[in-house]
Amino acid sequence: MDQSPPLRIAVLGSGRGSNFVALAEAVRSRALPIDIRLVISDVESAPILIHARYRDIQAHFIPPGGFRTKLDEAAEAAYLAALDEAGVEFIVLAGFMRILKGPLLHRFAGRVVNIHPSLLPAFPGLNAWQQALDYGVKVTGCTVHLVDEGVDTGPILAQRAIPVLDGDTAISLHERIQMAERDLYPEVVGALARKEIQVRGRLTRGFSGGR
Ligand code: GRF
Repeated sequence: MDQSPPLRIAVLGSGRGSNFVALAEAVRSRALPIDIRLVISDVESAPILIHARYRDIQAHFIPPGGFRTKLDEAAEAAYLAALDEAGVEFIVLAGFMRILKGPLLHRFAGRVVNIHPSLLPAFPGLNAWQQALDYGVKVTGCTVHLVDEGVDTGPILAQRAIPVLDGDTAISLHERIQMAERDLYPEVVGALARKEIQVRGRLTRGFSGGR
């Protein structure tokens, strides 16, 4: 039985929510010391909100404001207010399609984690699986990293490698990467909640679940 007090987290996502579902299921079935206090989306119709409500987890659509790739100032304040109200200690990004900057990231410095569908630092940004296919790499994968001011540049916590197969399409490769994500992300967030991961600058240690 894990004795750590549960880590109070928020999950932010813009889409399907398969990583959120994997995390919520792992919290339940593996009794991870995690309390998912709320889910926030910048997309009103995002399935991640439906998955959260189905599990009786508070779920908010908070409009992102006028920018395409980030939150505007008022939106950021609204996100922060919701996070504070729910007593959130740690933010888990799961397909949140906006770059976090400014006061929100400042307040949660070192306490925001993301999963990216490539072996960073290769192929940051959008459609990383397509970038990997186009480049012709034979191995790609997924990366769990802390979020800093850059795009997919924060300290790497864990990675899982996936071979690129002859005949792979963007769809087949993406699907295999996402299967690995759903396995890896709950393990890493669980390790963070148990305070098993140490971070020193870019160098991190303490997670042994990568394969
Ligand atoms: C994942 O593939 C993740 O790598 C990327 O966004 C996608 C989110 O998928 N950051 P889902 O919404 O969790 O299904």
